[in-house]
Amino acid sequence: MTGQACDSLTLPRRSGTQGKQMKQSTMQKQHWRAPQHTSNNLLTRRAFLKLAGTAFLATAAGCASKTAPPAATPSARGRAVEIALTAQEASWELAPGKRITAWTYNGSVPGHPIRVREGDHVRVLFTNRLSEPSTIHWHGVDVPAAMDGVPDLSQRAVQPGATFTYEFDARPAGTRWYHTHADSARQLDLGLSAPLIIEPQAGDPGADREYTLLLDDWVTGSLAPTPPPADNGMMGGNMMGGMMDDAGPAYDTFTINGKAFPATAPLIVRQGERVRLRLINASNMQTFVLSLAGHRLQVTHTDGNPLQQAVEVDALPIVPAERYDVIFVADHPGRWPLYALNRPHTQGGLKTLIVYEGSESAPEAELPSLAPGLRVWSYGLGQGVDRLPQPSGHGATYQLTLSGGMMMSGDPNVWTINGKVYPQTDPLVAERNQLISVRLSNMSMQTHPFHLHGQSFRVLRVGGQTLPAPLIKDTVDVPAMMGTVDLEIVAFNPGDWMFHCHKPMHMDGGMATLVKVA
Ligand code: C2O
Ligand code: CU
Repeated sequence: MTGQACDSLTLPRRSGTQGKQMKQSTMQKQHWRAPQHTSNNLLTRRAFLKLAGTAFLATAAGCASKTAPPAATPSARGRAVEIALTAQEASWELAPGKRITAWTYNGSVPGHPIRVREGDHVRVLFTNRLSEPSTIHWHGVDVPAAMDGVPDLSQRAVQPGATFTYEFDARPAGTRWYHTHADSARQLDLGLSAPLIIEPQAGDPGADREYTLLLDDWVTGSLAPTPPPADNGMMGGNMMGGMMDDAGPAYDTFTINGKAFPATAPLIVRQGERVRLRLINASNMQTFVLSLAGHRLQVTHTDGNPLQQAVEVDALPIVPAERYDVIFVADHPGRWPLYALNRPHTQGGLKTLIVYEGSESAPEAELPSLAPGLRVWSYGLGQGVDRLPQPSGHGATYQLTLSGGMMMSGDPNVWTINGKVYPQTDPLVAERNQLISVRLSNMSMQTHPFHLHGQSFRVLRVGGQTLPAPLIKDTVDVPAMMGTVDLEIVAFNPGDWMFHCHKPMHMDGGMATLVKVA
């Protein structure tokens, strides 16, 4: 079934390399079992029906539409796209000899990748074949509140055997993702997450080739439940992330698209290409600091939203739930590791190889040793393109103090906002289209990647330092030990929205509140 392979995570742009890519994609998808009423997420229903009657179906579905636009030109109202997602158990091999029972969307890890165009009307027919209630949250998408997937807030959780139809317009464009929002600390850990890519209608500079890489952390039981040692070379706020956990499961395996090195799929490139990586951190606890040996990375998007200019860096920290789009220029033939600067992450499998065509048998370049003067991404380096609507006026200003954990509350599983745990926390209130200001101050020993549902926000200041131009994000890292972040929310999407730490253990431990937009 070519159509399935075409939905895979790699999207070659050049026809000359398609054969190779397709084979690889098919291999990645071995465990993929098609749901009964699957429909293609790259074609309009009309185009699909037209094609369905022809012998061209197998080759026309999916891939062809990537290199040539689909038959139907998108109208302002967008296409109607229907996707069937089934949450189900599947046996999954993270690496040779490391087989787990994963919780999946449509049988694969990551779950079934969705790729649509901005403005498309998306209908997702969700079936829960798990043994527990579940929901789907569309992270970074401006969905209507009833489609947001938070149990008991936006909907009743979908019971085992039951179905639910999610319906929303795909907005805004960018690298988004979707995941469970029920019993997150457990369900997200078991694999219920997947990429959701919304292509812009226009104005995408594009790349010659593109890969989407979803990064994740796993507990397979090969480590004793003690925190891994801090990596000496990489002290400092952002870098420590997952290395400072004072409680919780011992994450021992780290994956790129569901595979730990050496099982990761190599990324094939051709000399001279501009290659885009869409990076999604779906892990529960890890800040992954990514680097590509022999190349610099140009950061072009934060959480799917464009920067005014690309920012060139040697290493890119990504906190849980953040996404970055980066471009690298393939100007250095060979076989180069894409890896994490925190050695325990790389040793645990977070590594793949960039392989130039023609260099397939070249020796693998060694991991560079940490050099002083390494240029590491931080929020202050980027200048966002402000796409938020004009506010109607200024509302309240909120101060949220984040605390908890062993050091602050004496209980590793209690996490607070202004001393309270959800649902006792005080909500933030805004009238529709009002601008509200929020200062997040972190008194605890851990970083808290804070996420707002339903609308993105502006990041204005970090640690009291004003950014050269606000970043547009939906997830912001609040650094540990007195870190502060100032942000502005233009409350354009009516409803009650979760605003919470995206480390699910912290969210379940109370670090969550609501933004109520009337
Ligand atoms: Cu990505 Cu409330 O979640
Ligand atoms: Cu947290």
